[in-house]
Amino acid sequence: MDTVEIVEVGPRDGVQSVATWIPTERKVALIEALIAAGVRRLEVGSFISPKAIPQMRDAEAVVTALGPHPGVRKMALVPNIKGAERAIAAGVDEIIFVISMSEAHNQTNVRRPIAQSMEELRLLLEEVDADGRLKMRIGLATSFDCPFDGRVDEAAVLANIERIVAIREGMELVLSDTTGMAIPAHVGELARTCLDRFGEVASFGFHGHDTAGFCVANVLAALEAGIRIFDGSVAGLGGCPFAPGATGNVATEDLVYLFHRMGFETGIDLTRYLDACELAKALPDGVTGGHAGKTPMARLNQSLGLAAQAAE
Ligand code: COA
Ligand code: ZN
Repeated sequence: MDTVEIVEVGPRDGVQSVATWIPTERKVALIEALIAAGVRRLEVGSFISPKAIPQMRDAEAVVTALGPHPGVRKMALVPNIKGAERAIAAGVDEIIFVISMSEAHNQTNVRRPIAQSMEELRLLLEEVDADGRLKMRIGLATSFDCPFDGRVDEAAVLANIERIVAIREGMELVLSDTTGMAIPAHVGELARTCLDRFGEVASFGFHGHDTAGFCVANVLAALEAGIRIFDGSVAGLGGCPFAPGATGNVATEDLVYLFHRMGFETGIDLTRYLDACELAKALPDGVTGGHAGKTPMARLNQSLGLAAQAAE
């Protein structure tokens, strides 16, 4: 059976959008529930300035409180060397460094020009991973649309990717629709061009928000182009504090359900995953979405060809 890799970003991209403080225990319980459902790769938080997003200030405590999970890759977003050092000291398995493809968003998000983020990435790799053992993921924020400048020029994105692969080959680059406004044709075209031009020197994933309601269609366009790594957020939890008006990521459960119906293996147990969704939905002022969670379990199972379980 063909497989797709689902990367769960709810505990970072989703949780960071919640204004009300979420106690460490609740963050940990959500992550444990996601892992129990079969998630094997997930963002557990970000090691950023506590002034930028106070909700992420307990990242160390979250990572420390998690049980040992052999085979699970715990990922954390970092904006600079300081963040990378904190993440490595805490024991995360994989680091995500984010660079926006539009100047205006990079400036708002990490308060520096793109060129300076590139230099920070180079220094970061030199400083914390000179021997290249670290699993690195680069989040290419605003690959399609910028909340300030509108559509992002494909040539600019490709030029930035060229700079990134010149710094290091073999990393995972994630085309990110930060605002959730991209359309499938744009996603498919950029994904195809990236795989053609850089497929030998980098791997590619797709990270989409669902503001316009197009994200599942965008995921399918990326799949068609050859991408097999997709980000989703539990119950669609989220929004971006630095992209005004953007809503959460596509709901992971909708991707799991869709991929299973299409005959792809994800390694995730949908029934148990929907239990984890309840924890996300219960977060005070967390904005959630998603469709699979609103569909009766018996219908989901029937459509998946499983023995229909008694509907709750
Ligand atoms: N972890 C903890 N503290 C950090 C930090 C990190 N990774 N990076 C910087 N800081 C602290 C500094 O120590 C300094 O603290 P002080 O005021 O007590 O001395 C303060 O933050 C400001 O540091 P500075 O280097 O001047 O950063 P800045 O104010 O220009 O902010 C970032 C730049 C990148 C640190 C900040 O904008 C940030 O953390 N952004 C992350 C945004 C994000 O996560 N967006 C969502 C993901 S797409
Ligand atoms: Zn995002």
